[in-house]
Amino acid sequence: INKERFNKDLLSWYRSEQRDLPWRQNQDPYRIWVSEIMLQQTKVDTVIPYFKRFIESFPTVYDLAAAPEDKVLKAWEGLGYYSRARNLQSAVKEVVETYNGKVPDTPEQIANLKGVGPYTAGAILSIAYNKPEPAVDGNVMRVFSRILSIWDDIAKPSTRKIFEEAVRKLISEENPSHFNQALMELGAMVCTPKSPSCLLCPVQSHCQAFAEGVQDELPVKSKK
Ligand code: ADE
Repeated sequence: INKERFNKDLLSWYRSEQRDLPWRQNQDPYRIWVSEIMLQQTKVDTVIPYFKRFIESFPTVYDLAAAPEDKVLKAWEGLGYYSRARNLQSAVKEVVETYNGKVPDTPEQIANLKGVGPYTAGAILSIAYNKPEPAVDGNVMRVFSRILSIWDDIAKPSTRKIFEEAVRKLISEENPSHFNQALMELGAMVCTPKSPSCLLCPVQSHCQAFAEGVQDELPVKSKK
């Protein structure tokens, strides 16, 4: 793959086709964080109204840190997986107490926050702080398994590292934020689990699975 051409094709597509989502209005790391936690087990369309209401109720880390827990859980009602909300509030309190209210911008500090795994850490570092860190979730593994024809089992926890290394090699240094969001967007709108729209794909000419006609066989995902 030619990194420069790949990035140009991916990023120009993202600039013209990206959805207007509420967490894309600015690069406030707190808002990115909230959105990524909500999006972990919940679809975009469901998250949108919850995200808007949550940010109206708790616009900053200080508001969320000071809020009574029952009010936070009430705002989460319907999203499920309430430990996400509890962990988020506990981590936000730590940000207020330990980091003066500024969401940390190093991989070590950010990954130590409660509820922040490697995916969320990479998403915050790249989207909010524009650092060239991978943010690999199931969607990104699907997209990259096809582009690079990677046949490792994505159900195995150890496979994520293989994809992180692949992303590190290709990630735009000028715009890591748009690079990672473009991969998410591509996975949602074009490189879908079933019947991917390869004819509309901005990186079709870079895609090894398409060249070999095996896009429907990837990613490999064993039943556990
Ligand atoms: N899924 C996970 N993170 C996302 C984001 N930032 N935008 C759209 N879909 C997502």
